Amino acid sequence: MATPAADLANWIPRLLATWRAARRTQRRGGPRPPLDALLPDELREVAAAVTRLSTGLTRERELAGARYLDDERLLGAYLLFYWPISYLQARGVLSELPRLPRTVLDLGSGPGPLAFAALDAGAVAVTACDRAKQALTAARDLARLAGARLTTRDWNPTQGTPLASLTGGTPPDLITLGHVINELWKGEGAEEKRAALLESAARALAPGGSLVVIEPALRDTSRGLLRVRDLLVSRGFAVRAPCLFRGACPALLKESDWCHAERAIDPPPLVAQIGKAAGLRKEAVKMSYLVLAPPGEPWAAPPPGVVLRIVSEPLAGKGRLRYMGCGPDGRKGLALQEKHVGDANRRFETLKRGDVVALEGTEPRGDGLALGAGSRVTVLAEAGRPVPMPVDGQA
Ligand SMILES: C[S@@+](CC[C@H](N)C(=O)[O-])C[C@H]1O[C@@H](n2cnc3c(N)ncnc32)[C@H](O)[C@@H]1O
Repeated sequence: MATPAADLANWIPRLLATWRAARRTQRRGGPRPPLDALLPDELREVAAAVTRLSTGLTRERELAGARYLDDERLLGAYLLFYWPISYLQARGVLSELPRLPRTVLDLGSGPGPLAFAALDAGAVAVTACDRAKQALTAARDLARLAGARLTTRDWNPTQGTPLASLTGGTPPDLITLGHVINELWKGEGAEEKRAALLESAARALAPGGSLVVIEPALRDTSRGLLRVRDLLVSRGFAVRAPCLFRGACPALLKESDWCHAERAIDPPPLVAQIGKAAGLRKEAVKMSYLVLAPPGEPWAAPPPGVVLRIVSEPLAGKGRLRYMGCGPDGRKGLALQEKHVGDANRRFETLKRGDVVALEGTEPRGDGLALGAGSRVTVLAEAGRPVPMPVDGQA
């Protein structure tokens, strides 16, 4: 299988061709536009739309839940800038699944970045569902250009579209919701309704399947996802990733905390071109995500020993390095003084958010763990890789 970045490079000319074909203000005459970059007038138009979309989905969030993909310019901004990022986020999460999905339902697909990520990761039957008709048309155009098999369906959970009507009677191995649930319902009761939607999606999965939810890494959307996670965990659902802790999410205890993943990327030149023009940097993709198992499937047993997922960036202090970790016993600060760095614990200095580590020779210190000269640090799974875990009962 090619790398996600190499697969994404193949999508860039298709995204540009789809956008140019749908653009009402078609260019007449002039030079043939490049297949993988924008001409200056195109760049101005797209960068302005990206700025509008970015502001509308982050600050006051007035566009969240609005029909912004029905606006030709905003759909263009989505296709050329956000689509590649959602695609890479999805490939990152799919690489953590215990088994590759074959049949997939992508809910709130927009123009299909998660759907196509699943196809590139080996899925064979993918259905993209949304209420935004132009976005689904763009997804079909992209599928035609790629020679990919994609089915599209109209879906709106706020109007009660039953999931069973989308699956054609075959339970999917994977259901994805990318940057959607924060847009569904507002105000009091919204999180309960989102949890009910996720619960019905998890119940629609084939045995051993996964429900993948990706949300923006903003404090509010991330905390919203964590509260929905807690509702589902309290109803007995097992989390496949990223949580090792089976209780209520400890990141919710302090109003200022949240939990997100971050993966370094080398953005495709088109995304870098638009990002520069719009003043948005994309050297890393950040997201909050959750992978749930179908009902009745137990939590996987964690590997033995002191095991934690790194849930912060490195927190450099005077003469010591710290991280926040979250493991089967909850969230803990981890600290190693520079003077205690040696061969067995040197890996501590290069840990990344999302890595899962096993620690030996730690001591409780305050509400966390201190590593010393005799501590050993082993990376069990780098960020974005599955944690090797025996299923409960086989440990
Ligand atoms: C930010 S886009 C995400 C698109 C894609 N899943 C991704 O991750 O890039 C949010 C999507 O949610 C869809 N959406 C929002 N409210 C919806 C609703 N009530 N019914 C169906 N789709 C909805 C929008 O049409 C849009 O395609």
